[in-house]
Amino acid sequence: MFSSADIREKFLDFFEKKGHRIVPSSSLIPDDPSVLFTTAGMQQFKRYYTGELDAEKDFGSKNTVSIQKCFRTSDIDEVGDESHLTFFEMLGNFSFGGYFKEEAIEYAYEFIVKEMGLKIEYATIFDPAKVPEGDWRKSVPFDGESEKIWKKYGVEINREGIDVFWGPTGEEGPCGPTTEIYVKNAAGKAIEIWNIVFNEFYRDENKKLSPLKTPGIDTGMGLERLTMVVQNKPTIFETDLFEIPFSSTISGMGSSGRIMADHLRGIVFIIVDGVRPSNKGAGYILRRLIRRAIYQSKKMRNYSSLNNFMDNIIRFYGAYPDYKNLIVDAIIIHNVFREEAEKFEKGLDLGLREFGKKYPGLTAQFYNPGQALKIPETNKFISGEDAFYSHQTYGLTIDIIKDLAKNGLHQVDEEGFWREFKKHQEISRAGAEKKFGGHGLSPSAGETQGEGEDKEKIVRLHTATHLLQAALRQSLGDKVSQKGSNINAERLRFDFSFDRKLTPEELKKIEDLVNEKIKENLPVNFIELPKGEALASGALHFFGEKYPEKVKIYYTGSDLKSAFSKEFCGGPHVKNTSEIGKFKILKEEAVSSGVRRIKAAVLD
Ligand code: SER
Repeated sequence: MFSSADIREKFLDFFEKKGHRIVPSSSLIPDDPSVLFTTAGMQQFKRYYTGELDAEKDFGSKNTVSIQKCFRTSDIDEVGDESHLTFFEMLGNFSFGGYFKEEAIEYAYEFIVKEMGLKIEYATIFDPAKVPEGDWRKSVPFDGESEKIWKKYGVEINREGIDVFWGPTGEEGPCGPTTEIYVKNAAGKAIEIWNIVFNEFYRDENKKLSPLKTPGIDTGMGLERLTMVVQNKPTIFETDLFEIPFSSTISGMGSSGRIMADHLRGIVFIIVDGVRPSNKGAGYILRRLIRRAIYQSKKMRNYSSLNNFMDNIIRFYGAYPDYKNLIVDAIIIHNVFREEAEKFEKGLDLGLREFGKKYPGLTAQFYNPGQALKIPETNKFISGEDAFYSHQTYGLTIDIIKDLAKNGLHQVDEEGFWREFKKHQEISRAGAEKKFGGHGLSPSAGETQGEGEDKEKIVRLHTATHLLQAALRQSLGDKVSQKGSNINAERLRFDFSFDRKLTPEELKKIEDLVNEKIKENLPVNFIELPKGEALASGALHFFGEKYPEKVKIYYTGSDLKSAFSKEFCGGPHVKNTSEIGKFKILKEEAVSSGVRRIKAAVLD
């Protein structure tokens, strides 16, 4: 029987022999600001389909193969059954103008039938007749070519509609009809294991399709599912991918064990790719995973093993070269987890008790395990406000509330919860801006924080931030505007609006420009002006922000009018740009849709 390691190796070998270049997995946090996580193997290759990048130049081949770590939140409510996961690995082969339907189907057939020894039950193909009227995919033609190819191999066909059209990831991007391969699982049921996408179109944000410059192939097959079928196991949790890191313990734990196992894998991989728990975006997903894993393990009274499980995951996956960072950053992973866990646990017990008072019986399993639950038939609706109160006060996430609700078949007003959540986020954002004087600076950049050398470094980085913003606008245009800024003694972090990744040439130009201004020994001064005059000076400020009647403008250069940079700001700053030292950009990355982040340092 093949182990999961055998399957990985066979997949990569098979496609390497067919002229594919093996490409390492990209980060779970994509460069692509239109999505929070990497959800498919094709994501790192998006720009090869659009023709912006040239695969032959970058990989020495038009065809690539990868095993990509992926994270999807779309199935999070299904996790706990036999085969759904948030974190998984995707086996995929790709072609950017190299081959198309004929070879893609031939390779897939050969790999599944000859290499894996499985029988294909049937394959699906795209048929617009099955697409609802008015849908944007209705105009895509029937995929008769794939039907013909499959028939050659004697494989049965199912014609389907929108389920066999893939993409784009996010609002726009490559997409196209697909053919999916179905095989039988251990229970004799046909399940989908491989999705072969024929990327022929580009969808723009108005849902209009146009032919792709480089039509190509994008395939995706979940490693966990394939392993389950090959090893003839009833669930993915009984494959070696789970049995090894979880020492065969979880199969007996029911859905709680499965949720915990799934989430722990996700937690480890998301942390190692740089996400930290927070209340928004990827950080909030991580927070939810951590809390839910702890909650589920508490339910099973198995909390102490979470750290051991994490160690096992780190060791099991860290053995693969793509994932060696897990070993390097093992301590970071544990620390991030522990810090969040400690915070959460403070509120959890109390939260469960309080929640149990309002909704009797739902939390009884934590206190009187094994006893029959007495749940009154009245009050079976948990309002959005109540759910949010438990979240806000005790940290019980919506997933936890939903899980508790199941005990009494209660209904949760999830939409109401999210309304409250959003409302609260808006209020706290407004509060934070007030507190930091609307300069977008964290308190660490203010006058009162930092001692000695640290403080001096922070002041240098603060002035460098002003130069950076001016350089960005000079190089990329006025659409660049500040979205956030944070400075500590090591580095500055500057978030700004911009709709794509910066090229290495652009970054170099911006870095050079800042260094040029530093070399010019420009004086840094401030002037206090009435608000109206300050606004008229063209100094940068936050739109819609309420400023006091008199504002300070810091400017770099001999006078306000000709200054290279001028911003509404409370300071402090260096007296002369020469004090900054050498400016170095460390990293440029996406924060969210349309927002980029630069991290930079100043050297002595
Ligand atoms: N992009 C397709 C998927 O995610 C095939 O890789 O299923």
